[in-house]
Amino acid sequence: MCGIVGFVGREEAAPILLEGLSRLEYRGYDSAGLAIWGAQDGLQVVKAKGRLQVLSDLTQGGATLHGSIGLGHTRWATHGEPSDVNSHPQVSERGRFAVVHNGIVENYMEIREFLQNQGITFVSQTDTEVVAQLLDYLYEGDLLDAVAKMLHRIRGAYAFGIICADCPDKLVAVRKDSPLILGHGEGFQMLASDVTAVIKYTREVTYLDNDELAVVTPDGVQVYDAYLQPVEKEQHHVDWEISAAEKGGYEHFMAKEIMEQPEAFRKTVFPRIRDGQVALDDLHFEKDYLEQLDKIYIIACGSSYHVGMVAKYNFEKLLRKPVEVALASEFRYSEPIVTGHTLALVISQSGETIDTLTAMREAKRLGARALAIVNVVGSTIAREADDVLYTWAGPEIAVATTKAYSTQMAVTYLIALYFAQMMGTISPEEYAAIVSELLLIPTKLETILAQSQDIQYYASLYFNHPSIFFIGRNIDYAVGMEGSLKLKEISYIHSEAYAAGELKHGTISLIEPGTLVVALASCRAVFEKEMSNVVEVKSRGADVIALTTEDLAGETAKTVDHTIAIPTTHPMLLPSLDVVPLQLFAYYVALQRGCDIDKPRNLAKSVTVE
Ligand code: F6R
Repeated sequence: MCGIVGFVGREEAAPILLEGLSRLEYRGYDSAGLAIWGAQDGLQVVKAKGRLQVLSDLTQGGATLHGSIGLGHTRWATHGEPSDVNSHPQVSERGRFAVVHNGIVENYMEIREFLQNQGITFVSQTDTEVVAQLLDYLYEGDLLDAVAKMLHRIRGAYAFGIICADCPDKLVAVRKDSPLILGHGEGFQMLASDVTAVIKYTREVTYLDNDELAVVTPDGVQVYDAYLQPVEKEQHHVDWEISAAEKGGYEHFMAKEIMEQPEAFRKTVFPRIRDGQVALDDLHFEKDYLEQLDKIYIIACGSSYHVGMVAKYNFEKLLRKPVEVALASEFRYSEPIVTGHTLALVISQSGETIDTLTAMREAKRLGARALAIVNVVGSTIAREADDVLYTWAGPEIAVATTKAYSTQMAVTYLIALYFAQMMGTISPEEYAAIVSELLLIPTKLETILAQSQDIQYYASLYFNHPSIFFIGRNIDYAVGMEGSLKLKEISYIHSEAYAAGELKHGTISLIEPGTLVVALASCRAVFEKEMSNVVEVKSRGADVIALTTEDLAGETAKTVDHTIAIPTTHPMLLPSLDVVPLQLFAYYVALQRGCDIDKPRNLAKSVTVE
């Protein structure tokens, strides 16, 4: 999704903005632009379709733009194709306002028509130009007044950075449902879509809340609410190192993040296990509340939803409570049955996914208590949930999630154990067995990662296949969904995940000699059934890679072409191990195909539009 950076200080702004934008590239974009105000040259705007490098070349790394206040933007096209003219910043006809925007202005058409009737000419197809033109139309010498009036006229989700050539000592930042943070330094201030863009310059940040507006000058920031009343904001110190957002010798962030999983799992789980007990100090649930739950509604998108699919099996098994897993984008529009006894478990790496955020708000409105699993500290979902458990995966830069998925999964295990113990639905023996296995997962992950060359070999055999199936039963099916998504999003190979028993109800007609089927066969309870389905596809000519545990590998080897064996563990924890070979397979297939692994086409890291 679009990335915003703003700088106001005493140095040249353009190189700093380009550096900040480079840190936001991972979010996904198709064009980029800069607006700088300088005493000599006034408002200078340069923007270009394509990679940030194009913009950097056009401005000689920012050296051709002079001024110490400016805005930068990477655009992920929504209204209007990716093009130079549709790129941001968008400037008003009179050249007084330059605006960068993340989000969608829903009523932009009616405002555009209104302004056109006033004689204003538009040059782009964007909703953002409407905002720049509207600001100029409403401006009567008072910047804040114009911004406030503009905000009353628009509907939608947005984060804006605004420069007004009449007030060149300040930037205005506004947000509603799209993220925006402020960074504070000695003699300079920044604004940005996320912390990665400012961390090189400062670790002191403020998270803007919905409907807040900030006036940003070199010496400080004043935040206002929607009625222009001043708001006191708390500053936060960011404690992760900038190296966490760098490749550290790996060819891709995705490879680095796959390899970081043992450590991320440790950081997420180990501090929360004390004396063999799951200690979730941030949660304050009562036994009565849990016993009276009528349902746990898990709400998420994409890979986070796949974590929810696994969690459903584990929660229902351990808690004996009904669990429904909802795609966040469907939840709001499906008249969900939610009561005051429903727990909404919301899962999001970014904490900003608009579908998940709005679904969580709806669940809360209907009476649910919202417990969020989030990676990005201070993100909107984390702040609006009733309870939050952070995954300590560190910044995840590759668009395709890996370590966030793994740590989200880890947190669902902790919640399941914590609730089950409180409700008395788990025996002390089983509890102890799962906890001790949980502590072994990082070492087992390291074992799997050390064998990545086997998976690289399988990738070299199959990277040219037009279509690949993932089949499994029970939690193997849920993990297969993630394996399939990983493969298609980064390698662009068509892939489907199927419940193995469902194949013969239609999809098996697609199996022909040479079709690759990845069969997840790690759940011992359904192993034989799964293997019957493997035989069905084998006898129709499929090539099969089985993913199973060491103790079952001898069995699969009798039937399939290749076996990937993972260490054994408690059945509930298998997804944490199963997923890694699938991530590696997707990665190596994409590598063989020469794909842009960290920034796959059409995708964005943080999806802040519905
Ligand atoms: C896939 C992927 C996406 C995200 C989804 C939700 O690799 O990363 O499917 O899982 O967009 O994002 P979050 O978890 O940030 O809400």
